[in-house]
Amino acid sequence: MKNIFLLFLTLTLFSCKTEEKKEQITTGSESSAEGEVSSLTPAQQMGQEIFDGKGNCFTCHKPKQKAIGPSIKEIAKVYKEKKGDIPTFLKGKGEPIVDPSQYETMKTNFYITKNFSDEELKAVEAYIYSLAP
Ligand code: HEC
Repeated sequence: MKNIFLLFLTLTLFSCKTEEKKEQITTGSESSAEGEVSSLTPAQQMGQEIFDGKGNCFTCHKPKQKAIGPSIKEIAKVYKEKKGDIPTFLKGKGEPIVDPSQYETMKTNFYITKNFSDEELKAVEAYIYSLAP
């Protein structure tokens, strides 16, 4: 009888422990994710999700260093200085003002960005400007 009781006790303790552990893991990852994006507005956050997600923009545009395309910071700087319009450019209706010599490479993405809604284009713009120097 005593043995059964002990077994029961160990089982309860054990199940409590694993639950506690799980909780710690989820809250841990949640708070670190919040930490990363806490400085962004909801629109900028949506823009970042598109940029790093379905837009696939991050493969060529890194936040601060030039990769295949200019850095996001560089794009933000030029667009602010020259009062450019990122949504219009991404619809394929504008002229390149950052690095016209590489425009052909960027052009290949318009088939994706042309399907973005105005809200999504505005969000991408907001995200780009959030990295302005
Ligand atoms: C295959 C690589 C590649 C991908 C993917 C890519 N870009 Fe580009 N992008 C470039 C290159 C190269 C340039 C420089 C040419 C230019 O300025 O048009 C550029 C330029 C730009 C510019 C500046 C345009 C200007 O006025 O000169 C913007 C804004 C931009 N990209 C946004 C995006 C967004 C948003 C995405 C994702 C939907 C994206 N890019 C995906 C390569 C890429």
